[in-house]
Order: sequence, then structure tokens, then C-alpha cells
Amino acid sequence: MTTPRNRTRRDFLTRMAGLGAVLATPRALLAERRAVLGSARAQAQLPTRPIPGTTETLPIVGLGSSKPVLEIPTAGTDPVAAVIRALLEHGGRVVDTSPRTPEIDAEFGQVLAAPEFRDRLFVSTKINTDGEAAGARQMRQNQQLVGSRTVDLVQVESMRDLDAHWPNVLRWKESGEARYIGVTVSSTRQHDRFEAFMRAAPLDFVQVNYSVMEPQAEDRLLPLAADLGMAVLINRPFMNGSYFGRVSGRTLPEWASEFDCASWAHFSLKYILAHPAVTCALTETTNPEHMEENIQAAYGRLPDEAMKRRMRELVRDF
Ligand SMILES: NC(=O)c1ccc[n+]([C@@H]2O[C@H](COP(=O)([O-])OP(=O)(O)OC[C@H]3O[C@@H](n4cnc5c(N)ncnc54)[C@H](OP(=O)(O)O)[C@@H]3O)[C@@H](O)[C@H]2O)c1
Repeated sequence: MTTPRNRTRRDFLTRMAGLGAVLATPRALLAERRAVLGSARAQAQLPTRPIPGTTETLPIVGLGSSKPVLEIPTAGTDPVAAVIRALLEHGGRVVDTSPRTPEIDAEFGQVLAAPEFRDRLFVSTKINTDGEAAGARQMRQNQQLVGSRTVDLVQVESMRDLDAHWPNVLRWKESGEARYIGVTVSSTRQHDRFEAFMRAAPLDFVQVNYSVMEPQAEDRLLPLAADLGMAVLINRPFMNGSYFGRVSGRTLPEWASEFDCASWAHFSLKYILAHPAVTCALTETTNPEHMEENIQAAYGRLPDEAMKRRMRELVRDF
């Protein structure tokens, strides 16, 4: 049945689909798409996906906060506040972070405590140190950061000293100090060890590197996460920025409009979001306009398997 609401959304998607045919350059396409998005924003919600086994959902694009948080000592807190504001304004909610110096995290914690952000974010925290006692101290720091005894998610970053931390992580879940628990990896070399841990431990979340130029996670890790009912966060969607160096000066192929892709940022993000096991792609940025652009990738069509193969082949020699 066609209702005014879904008719508006359908019109929006149809207009998005048609843009590629009428606009010559990716920049123009992006500008036009932004305008369309602006008028349709009231109707079109940023898509969400469920955390498996729960009734909770997460918006499918989030913020990796490393860069703006590490810049707090030199740039202050306004830039990180600006990107989080952009994230929320465009329907996002997930902010991924790691323990920094106590001074940096104290300032970042003040940002997160501001009325405009408090209780509106899903903050994923990490343990990234050696030794059980140091890990427990980082958990206290995470709790101070979010201003609550309960953190949404705690992950052991890059499986660092996993044996020392994991018994505590399980206890934090048991005690309600962590709503969800997980591990992260950001290097393909670590995927085998990561897979073994996924098979052995009761993980709610995994975080893994995955993109059109680093697609290896789709071979085994992503299907396994789906089989085991684990939520999946994606890091390195742009290979920490080196992706943009490799696509620089190249024209986006015309066929990218077939899946409503308006920029090279969309090209990698749509590749990632097309995988059904992916819950949320974390994009790191210091620029609110990039945050908005990255969120726009969640709208419109996503590539199918044949298209994904074509995308991989295109960038293979970049
Ligand atoms: N082991 C781990 O747990 C681990 C490891 C790595 C990363 N992570 C997580 O994953 C997050 C993201 O991954 P990543 O660090 O590799 O970063 P990334 O998202 O792959 O790339 C970030 C870079 O891309 C640029 N960028 C972002 N959007 C852009 C756009 N639309 N157009 C042009 N440039 C754009 C950013 O510059 P601008 O500031 O100019 O936008 C930045 O230099 C991290 O913040 C962290 O939360 C976790």
C-alpha cells in the first residue's frame, strides 16, 4: 500500500537513482544529492541494523573519534564537538573511542557530558594496554569518560594482552558495567587469531578492518559473525585516509550511479554497508562536512555481489 510517508521516501530514492544520469561530475552530484537529502531528511531516516539477539538497533554509519580526540591538546574540544554534532544532526549515534591520556579523556568526557550529547550516543570504548591491573584502570577511565558506571560497549583493542583482560571483561558484562563486550582487529595479518577467538568466546561485538581495498574480512570473519550472532563494527573504511591518496585524481566510474554513489567516500562505504553482517561502519573525521557526506552513503541503493566484484577489480591497481 502506498502511504504519503512511503511515497515521499520512494520519490526520494527515485530522485537519488536518477541523479547519476543527469549530472556530469561527482562534485555536482554530491552537491545535488546534499540538496535532495536536505529536503527529504524529515522523511528519510538514517538506516539502522539490529544488534543480533537484542531489540536494540544502531545507525549504520558512526564516528571513529581517534583523530579529533587526539587533536584536543592542540585544537581544543570544538572540532570533536562539531563532528559529533554533525553525526547526531544526521541521525547517527555510534562514537568509537580508545583510552587516551587522562587529561585528554577528561576534556573529551566534558564534551560527551554536554546536554546536547548526553544520553544520545552509543559510545564504544576499549582496553588497549598490557596487564590486568592497567586494563582495570582503563575501564575506570572509560566509565569516567561516559559519566556512568555502565558503558555501552567495551572492546579489547587489537586483542592486546587479551588473556590478561578477558576474565575482567566477562566480569564487567556480568556486573552490568558493560552492556556489550567485544574485541577489535585492524590488520588483516591478525585475522586468523581473531577468528579463533570469535569461535571460542561469547562476544557481543567484533570490530574489524574492511573496505573495497581491504576486503579480506568478507572471506570468513563477516560470515562467521553472522552465523554466531555477533554485531560487527567496521574500522579503516578509508584505510586511515590512504584510500583517498590512491583514488586521488581518478574519475568515479559512471556505473557508480547505479548504486547511488556520489563520491569516492561513498564508493568504499557502500561496498562495506552492502555486506549484511555489518552493523555499523565507523568513519574517522575531523570535518563535519565529511561526517555528513559519509552518512549520506547509507541512503539509496547498495551494490549487489556482481557490482561489488566490479568495484574490487576497478580499485585493484590503484
Ligand atoms: N584496532 C582498532 O581497534 C582500531 C584501529 C584503527 C581504527 N579503529 C577505529 O576505526 C575508526 C576509523 O578507522 P581509521 O582510523 O582507519 O580511519 P578511516 O575512517 O579509514 O580514515 C580516516 C581518514 O579519512 C579522512 N576522511 C574521512 N571521511 C572523508 C571524506 N568524506 N572525504 C575525504 N576524507 C575523509 C579523514 O580526514 P578528515 O579528518 O580530513 O576528514 C581521515 O584522515 C578509528 O577512528 C577508530 O575508532 C580501531
